[in-house]
Amino acid sequence: MTRTLPYVTPLVPALIVIAFFVWFANWIPQTRWEPPKAQAIGADLAPEELAQIGRTVVRQRGCLACHTLEPGGGVKGAGRGPNLAGVAARRAQGVAGGPDNLVAYLAQSLYEPSAYLVEGYANIMPSSVTAPANLNYEETVAVIAYLQSLGKAPTVKVGDVPRPAASAPGAQPAAVASADPAAMFTALACEGCHSLVAGETRVGPPLDAAGLKQVAAGRGMSLEAFLMESIVNPGAYEKPGFPGGVMPPDYGTRLNATQLDAMVRYLAAHGGRP
Ligand code: HEC
Ligand code: HEC
Repeated sequence: MTRTLPYVTPLVPALIVIAFFVWFANWIPQTRWEPPKAQAIGADLAPEELAQIGRTVVRQRGCLACHTLEPGGGVKGAGRGPNLAGVAARRAQGVAGGPDNLVAYLAQSLYEPSAYLVEGYANIMPSSVTAPANLNYEETVAVIAYLQSLGKAPTVKVGDVPRPAASAPGAQPAAVASADPAAMFTALACEGCHSLVAGETRVGPPLDAAGLKQVAAGRGMSLEAFLMESIVNPGAYEKPGFPGGVMPPDYGTRLNATQLDAMVRYLAAHGGRP
């Protein structure tokens, strides 16, 4: 044994290096194969665990493009939607004429935001079960647990929250009957996010023809082609300074060709007159 030692000793640094690479090679796949971030939300999760997941969902799915979280700030925060920080206390009894408890109210405000409009706010919130948020049932429960946790301890578990009614808007994107572009502009909620008056910014940029022409030219497109693209595929060009992923991406499936064409021509002409 002692006689082999002199031969082994010089090899020690090499052995350490080899050991390091063996360890490293085993370590790499583990970091690569980390489970994907979109976690399956188990039915057995405690309300506190759901609230943690909901916290992430609210940040990832664009809720904070409109809402703020300002503890002690009252309903009217600095955002385009109500301050969510106090929502659990404010809505502990639900709302008059609507759901009479916090969980049912929160479920309604996510599935069908237009069913009850918070005073002083316009009907601009897209249903959370459709684009852009696309919350599945478990994610909805997690968001509700998180919203509860903004006031007191969360209580909901998967299964405690009603599922969206099949008839709720969003379960099936409503087709629009009219081909009158001014009526569509209101019916499709464009108006909640866009003004037709130059300089009047809402959630989205104003849609005055002069401004639109400029953007279209900058993209090397005709005004009509740019408008068509912006409506059916809003993600193709995201205007700097505005929240991406907020404009519903499904107008292309909700409008038929005649309606789309009418809308494009309406926007192209609107404000083009002196
Ligand atoms: C485009 C802007 C916008 C987005 C995006 C949005 N909201 Fe809203 N939200 C509003 C507005 C405006 C209101 C108030 C009008 C109403 O009640 O629908 C509101 C109301 C609410 C309410 C009721 C608040 C109260 O004080 O009663 C809740 C809860 C809520 N939103 C949660 C969410 C969550 C969660 C998301 C993300 C999945 C989200 N919102 C995405 C604009 C938005
Ligand atoms: C929930 C809010 C929301 C709704 C509803 C909405 N939009 Fe938008 N829209 C945006 C935002 C935010 C942008 C800017 C970011 C981007 O380019 O995607 C935008 C961009 C646009 C643009 C490109 C403007 C430019 O200067 O680049 C057009 C055109 C447009 N929307 C038309 C419409 C029409 C028509 C409707 C209704 C059929 C509609 N939008 C509904 C939020 C909305």
